[in-house]
Amino acid sequence: MSKEVGSTPDIGVLRETLTTIGDRADKMIGYFYAKLFVEYPETRELFPLQMDVQRSRLITAIIRVLQGLEDAGPAGIDRFLDQLGRDHRKFEVRPDHYVAVGRCLVAALREYSGSYWSPAVEAVWVDTYELVARRMMNAASAVPADVPPWWDAEVVAFERRSHDIAVLTVRPTRPYPFRAGQYASLSTPHRPRLWRPYSIANAPRADGTLEFHVRAVVAGWVSSALVWRGAVGDKIQLGPPMGTLEIDPVSLRDVLLIAGGTGLSPVKALLEDMTTWNRGRGVTVFYGGKHRDHLYDLAALRDLARGYRWLTVVPAVADDPAFAADQGLLPEVIARRGPWLRHDVYISGSPVMIRATVRQLELDGVKPERIHFDDFADRWASG
Ligand SMILES: Cc1cc2nc3c(=O)[nH]c(=O)nc-3n(C[C@H](O)[C@H](O)[C@H](O)COP(=O)(O)OP(=O)(O)OC[C@H]3O[C@@H](n4cnc5c(N)ncnc54)[C@H](O)[C@@H]3O)c2cc1C
Ligand code: HEM
Repeated sequence: MSKEVGSTPDIGVLRETLTTIGDRADKMIGYFYAKLFVEYPETRELFPLQMDVQRSRLITAIIRVLQGLEDAGPAGIDRFLDQLGRDHRKFEVRPDHYVAVGRCLVAALREYSGSYWSPAVEAVWVDTYELVARRMMNAASAVPADVPPWWDAEVVAFERRSHDIAVLTVRPTRPYPFRAGQYASLSTPHRPRLWRPYSIANAPRADGTLEFHVRAVVAGWVSSALVWRGAVGDKIQLGPPMGTLEIDPVSLRDVLLIAGGTGLSPVKALLEDMTTWNRGRGVTVFYGGKHRDHLYDLAALRDLARGYRWLTVVPAVADDPAFAADQGLLPEVIARRGPWLRHDVYISGSPVMIRATVRQLELDGVKPERIHFDDFADRWASG
């Protein structure tokens, strides 16, 4: 499937349609939801109560995924869509909902792209949407019956690490299988039906608990509820594990791990995992933030480094000259300490930080194929 989609030059048509719509995108999105909820009222209950805060999420996500088909490798696309399809089970999405969303999406695009729209343009949107939707539906229906659409879990430890960062330890009520480096969408009873992805900050543990590091963003619906209203005993829900970040276990190269802020979560999970199998590969972790408060888990990283001679931790702060750390933004700090030509590189943080770091590493000669980050997660998060 992905080969056909990934290789078709028609993907450019998707971009051109959106360029044509331009700053009427908000209206187009309003039209999409109005049509969906009027013509298929049963879909309304799948969405959050406060649609005003959420309106553009689904449609923006679909468009990003369709556009992303062009850049990502076929295997990456298929893996991502399979995970996304399984993840959508938590919304209780049915096959007829896919048809409804597809029809309303195409109708909204048609309505707002004026004379650019033609039968040929319509065919590209319909075909691409169908390929993606089919892949997601197939993945969802292939899930064994005993795998739940979501996992109930209880917060068993809650620790505020700085004024806006909390570390939550949760225990799912049934086993939650995942790999180090993955993320899960999470929903709190304080914000019903709103789900947001958070990286799991540990490798699988014998006691089955998971750790999440959450930073409350200003006016953020889910993160602020998790950080400010979270407490031991809260019952939360987890979507299935997603994401493809993993250390190549057969490579002999040293490893460079780069984490910005709570981007530390998957890096910490990968490190924990490496403690179970790594012998000879040197690992350097750059951990950056604006000031020392943002390096809320530095003590734990340093503890780990004391136990493993292969591990070096380099803290970096952009705006805290009195703190004993490398000074500057992560890309410049990493460049100063380079070159990193013989390393496998893994990056986690905000989309902006990831892009700046990738750019710097490539300028410094690191081959793109040695640089890893969750590219679909990045695309989906970027605003
Ligand atoms: C794969 C993946 C893994 C993630 N892992 C983590 C993690 O481990 N820890 C963590 O804290 N977050 C993580 N995030 C971000 C998280 O999913 C949410 O986007 C974030 O918590 C904001 O959600 P919200 O509901 O509070 O904000 P929303 O209500 O969605 O947004 C409110 C406002 O804040 C803006 N906003 C959203 N995110 C940010 C941001 N990061 N910085 C500044 N402004 C923002 C929005 O544009 C909007 O204007 C991850 C995201 C992805 C895609
Ligand atoms: C090709 C088809 C689809 C794709 C690629 C897709 C993709 C996505 C993605 C990536 C998200 C996450 C957005 C975010 O959290 O920012 C999302 C959210 C969501 N999707 Fe889908 N989706 C598809 C079809 C559907 C259908 C058919 C339904 C059901 C009517 C649906 C219901 C939802 C809901 C309810 C959310 C949460 C939105 C919110 O929080 O407002 N999706 N989708």
